[in-house]
Amino acid sequence: MHDKSDDATSCPASPPAPELFTWEFAADPYPAYAWLREHAPVHRTALPSGVEAWLVTRYTEARQALADARLSKNPVHHSESAHGKGKVGIPGERSANLMTHLLNIDPPDHTRLRRLVSKAFTPRRVAAFAPRVQELTDHLIDQFAAKGSADLIHEFAFPLPIYAICDMLGVPSEDQDDFRDWAGMMIRHGGGPRGGVARSVKKMRGYLAELIHRKRSEPGDDLISGLIRASDHGEHLTENEAAAMAFILLFAGFETTVNLIGNGTYALLRHPAQRELLQKAIAAGDTELLSTGVEELLRYDGPVELATWRFATEELTLGGQRIAEGDPVLVVLAAADRDPSRFVAPDVLDLTRRDNQHLGYGHGIHYCLGAPLARLEGQTALATLLTRLPDVRLAADPDDLRWRGGLIMRGLRSLPVEFTPERP
Ligand code: HEM
Repeated sequence: MHDKSDDATSCPASPPAPELFTWEFAADPYPAYAWLREHAPVHRTALPSGVEAWLVTRYTEARQALADARLSKNPVHHSESAHGKGKVGIPGERSANLMTHLLNIDPPDHTRLRRLVSKAFTPRRVAAFAPRVQELTDHLIDQFAAKGSADLIHEFAFPLPIYAICDMLGVPSEDQDDFRDWAGMMIRHGGGPRGGVARSVKKMRGYLAELIHRKRSEPGDDLISGLIRASDHGEHLTENEAAAMAFILLFAGFETTVNLIGNGTYALLRHPAQRELLQKAIAAGDTELLSTGVEELLRYDGPVELATWRFATEELTLGGQRIAEGDPVLVVLAAADRDPSRFVAPDVLDLTRRDNQHLGYGHGIHYCLGAPLARLEGQTALATLLTRLPDVRLAADPDDLRWRGGLIMRGLRSLPVEFTPERP
């Protein structure tokens, strides 16, 4: 895993360019991002896969790139057409017929599909789901509260989003453990060997296609039935589009939320004064700090380290750097969200931060569709955990914790904790 940076970064007066994509980098990428922001804010590098891409690390250019219509989401614009070789995107997406999902398309197709899915996946539907998220959260904590210790990734952060989205989509409860297994395969091997991941993607996609077919004749009050029903000027999603849509909701909403809960809890455990402030606010019924706090956790160490792939449809200039037609561009959200020219004391975790227009959910037309659900799950999970296990503490040396090595997501492999066991 070597960074093959080009000469643009080797300024003699500055410290040497940091190595990217090593295990040390995965554990703490922020010093390397600070270097890039200062010395090479639009930086061409070879990724571990061998694909060459531009990394954008300053807030202003990041926001600009996310909203630039000349940067397409459609991999056909990639000059190396590495997408065809399976190097970019969801593993197995071609064979699983997932190519036309929201994160792979541009207007006008994107506009049409996003409008249709927004009719079914509404903030109202999410708000109505709040009691169920609370129930799922309590049920998961019930499983380990009496033990006095737990791995919060495996036993809490991982199952909560998968059960939540399955429930919301309308996957019957007896089938949800299959999803837990398939999702487990995806998260364990994300960024690693891909055969098992591609198989899991195919199985999930196949299951969803069958479920959609069934829901057509037996509709319910769930999101899949809503996707089938959704219409815009008399237009509907095809069965194939609805299945790809259900899959992308699962795929985009699963590991992200695992990492919001995981990274967020970890940050709180490492900042006792901030955590105490939050605990007091929750106990007093002050939901405001919970809300600004979760936004700050997203900014400080968010789940999506790099936004998904974009490709230049024509030659353009970004941050003074010429980007050729067909070049891939990756916006480093984690770097932009620590940019001192945008955020006061960006390396400080401040749950009361108000001026916090972070890019953790992206920006522009691909802004996260699931943000209301993610906020609901993140707030419910953290508030319930800190209320039920008030003295929860880290049960490992932070240096021994391992971070997943994937390119897009940032999250812990495990988060061992201890606490006073809850009495039955
Ligand atoms: C904390 C949790 C989450 C974070 C940090 C997050 C972050 C993001 C980001 C950064 C993007 C834009 C990517 C880009 O422009 O390259 C995005 C898009 C998206 N997210 Fe999320 N997400 C989260 C949870 C969810 C959930 C729960 C769902 C749905 C159940 C979801 C569904 C989507 C979809 C469908 C898109 C594509 C939107 C489009 O292309 O129009 N996300 N998310």
